[in-house]
Amino acid sequence: MINEKLLIEKAFEAQKFSYAPYSGFNVGAALLGTNGKIYEGCNIENASFTPTNCAERTAFFKAVSEGQLEFSAIVIVGNKSGVKQGEGEYCAPCGVCRQVMSEFCDPDTFKIYLAKSVDDYKVYTLKEILPLGFTSKDLK
Ligand code: THU
Repeated sequence: MINEKLLIEKAFEAQKFSYAPYSGFNVGAALLGTNGKIYEGCNIENASFTPTNCAERTAFFKAVSEGQLEFSAIVIVGNKSGVKQGEGEYCAPCGVCRQVMSEFCDPDTFKIYLAKSVDDYKVYTLKEILPLGFTSKDLK
């Protein structure tokens, strides 16, 4: 069972650390490993723009760098600074982050929650948001 509310709260906690002086768009992610651990991430921007890392990838790279390679779900929260919880739009992951998810996650079972608040969220499978993905299977 996934504790959705806890995972959403953790994503909002991570969002507080968002470093986004250029876009002013603050993103937080909470990634649930199959080990039960939650890995939090925020977006980290850079004056040179290209090195910017999304919140989702920060969470994945933290987990993988600590030896966790299997995951059940991720919550993503994101908005321009100043937007209150429950307002604004759902923040969907960019294409690069979807590709990173596809490296480690089962497309049929991995769940992606897009949350505006603990009570307002939508859920998708990875397959729904990344159909026809290119994965390690294609290299065999
Ligand atoms: N961003 C994320 O962290 N995750 C997403 O899903 C969408 C975009 C970040 C990257 C950049 O720091 C800012 O949001 C604006 O694109």
